[in-house]
Amino acid sequence: MNQPVPLAVRRSGPLRGRARVPGDKSISHRALILGALTVGETRISGLLEGEDVINTSRAMRALGATVERTGQGEWCIHGVGVSGFAGPATPLDFGNSGTGCRLVIGAVAGCPITATFDGDASLRMRPMQRFLDPLQRMGARAVSVTEGGRLPLTLKGARDPIPIAYRPPVASAQLKSAVLLAGLSAPGETIVEEAEATRDHTERLLRHFGAEVTAAPNGPHGRRITLKGQPELVPAPVVVPADPSSAAFPMVAALIVPGSEVILDGVMTNVTRTGLYKTLREMGADIEELDARVEGGEDVADLHVRHSALRGVEVPPERAPFMIDEYLVLGVAASFAEGTTRMRGLKELRVKESDRLAATAAMLRVNGADVEIEGDDLIVHGKGHVAGGGTVATHMDHRIAMSALVMGLASDKPVQVDDTAFIATSFPGFVEMMRGLGGELS
Ligand code: S3P
Repeated sequence: MNQPVPLAVRRSGPLRGRARVPGDKSISHRALILGALTVGETRISGLLEGEDVINTSRAMRALGATVERTGQGEWCIHGVGVSGFAGPATPLDFGNSGTGCRLVIGAVAGCPITATFDGDASLRMRPMQRFLDPLQRMGARAVSVTEGGRLPLTLKGARDPIPIAYRPPVASAQLKSAVLLAGLSAPGETIVEEAEATRDHTERLLRHFGAEVTAAPNGPHGRRITLKGQPELVPAPVVVPADPSSAAFPMVAALIVPGSEVILDGVMTNVTRTGLYKTLREMGADIEELDARVEGGEDVADLHVRHSALRGVEVPPERAPFMIDEYLVLGVAASFAEGTTRMRGLKELRVKESDRLAATAAMLRVNGADVEIEGDDLIVHGKGHVAGGGTVATHMDHRIAMSALVMGLASDKPVQVDDTAFIATSFPGFVEMMRGLGGELS
């Protein structure tokens, strides 16, 4: 990433209009990776062209697939087939992206090749050992790993991968997906038993490309996923819906800026992703689903959002996997609400692009909000308004930058953000979109 790009945002008039946020990041990574493991031509439309996903496209090229951009969001891949990756000549650099890196680690673990994985300073801080543990059981070998189970690391994939039954120690769609992607190359059944269900895009896309994947309930909140190994993946076009995690930013902005009324087009409403929407509605948010439909195998709707008086709520820990990336912006909404919001069970936030538990509390506090961290819970005592006037440290984290900018649109005094450059990892065009809706960002 180049020079920091600071930005200031001041209280804005009503946000009005219609907008479409970019394609879903999770599906974009997976479409590229599964397209690369398919024999023949896969066409993707609506791909998120953020830096994270571009890095995954480069990795697919380095591993032997042909990947071409044919138009805005339009991509075409000629894959190499399951287990068909070739050893890359140079290290794979995933930049800021944990998802791209972890999913490709899983896919490489099932191939008889050696690859080195690396990323930026944020990604180099993030845990990788939890991915290596199951993949080593499947026959892959970590040739070298940086101290603490970090990047850079070099992985030798399994020549004859072994299918496993695996219980992830934490609720993580990345972990589940890494094991399933490695399991593609193994004979027999690879099973992942999740105590808490996580986003299901890998399973859906595997089915879309012809693999046999079943999911059954596992306890009150979990799922048991079974993949039949060594399928022949067949090409199928992928249409990427608008990213609900990106839509969360203009949504919360419209809820907290008085007089706002915004429509967000074609947003994915897959229930494994919409914990924030459910929570905001419990807080009193006026979010209406218009024209609910299925596009590219996912539920989508146009979301009509109007400024709303919000009140504090308790967010249960089992909802965390369905809104794991949304607590920062929920912290902003909670600060503008009346009363206390307790968000429970947020341990995983500590190992995201930054320590998001600490960073969210700091972002709110420096702008005058009343926040506490108790164990793994984030508690915000909302006062109906936020003073603002603070400078937010983004810690190389796109979602802190966007949350802080949203906060500034409704704060009493302007909010400064030290670096907005990382927004480009997930939401290119964010600042322009918010300006188009009437936000004053300078
Ligand atoms: C993602 C899963 C989540 C999320 C990340 C994207 C995915 O991580 O935080 O932004 O695409 O699988 P974990 O499932 O590891 O918590």
